[in-house]
Amino acid sequence: MAHKALVVYFSWSNGNTEHIAEIAQKALNADITPIETVVPYPDDYQATVDQGQQEVNSGFEPDINPIDFDVEDYDIVAIGTPTWWYTMAPAVTTFLHAHTWNGKTVIPFMTNGGWPGSVINDIEEACPDATCTCSLEVRFDSNGGDTMMTDEADLNRWADRLKKLVS
Ligand SMILES: Cc1cc2nc3c(=O)[nH]c(=O)nc-3n(C[C@H](O)[C@H](O)[C@H](O)COP(=O)(O)O)c2cc1C
Repeated sequence: MAHKALVVYFSWSNGNTEHIAEIAQKALNADITPIETVVPYPDDYQATVDQGQQEVNSGFEPDINPIDFDVEDYDIVAIGTPTWWYTMAPAVTTFLHAHTWNGKTVIPFMTNGGWPGSVINDIEEACPDATCTCSLEVRFDSNGGDTMMTDEADLNRWADRLKKLVS
């Protein structure tokens, strides 16, 4: 059976997670779409860090814009997020809870600044009916910047595993 793959990601600070999402897109020959909140986060970094903390602590799930693709059409969905306060960004929780995952293969990936938290595990728990595989953690610098600390070779190995999934 030919696989149909979709890459869905949230990326706010520098496009770090978007960068990894694009690697997944190429490897899986996938469609790709960002997750965007209806109400954008503040431009100010610290204001978003503070808001993100409140949202994570209270379990708030922000409204997100509809995406251009129907998740139901895909058997493989790669889902990417930055670590926000040791878990996935709240917008990704909204997305995961809005869909059913039975019969799908989910590829969780994330970026972080050195404190990855429990993101991969939290994604897996949010779609318990999915088969999760090929998860990836990518570390960027601890200043919230866009310098990648993870070895490029790790990304290449991951891309090779994704290619095998759809071959
Ligand atoms: C609201 C917020 C919370 C964050 N919390 C963490 C954290 O708990 N651990 C960590 O290592 N990095 C944390 N970071 C840093 C980001 O995870 C990191 O810079 C990530 O690569 C940004 O990805 P992006 O450019 O795709 O948004 C946080 C950043 C923001 C904005």
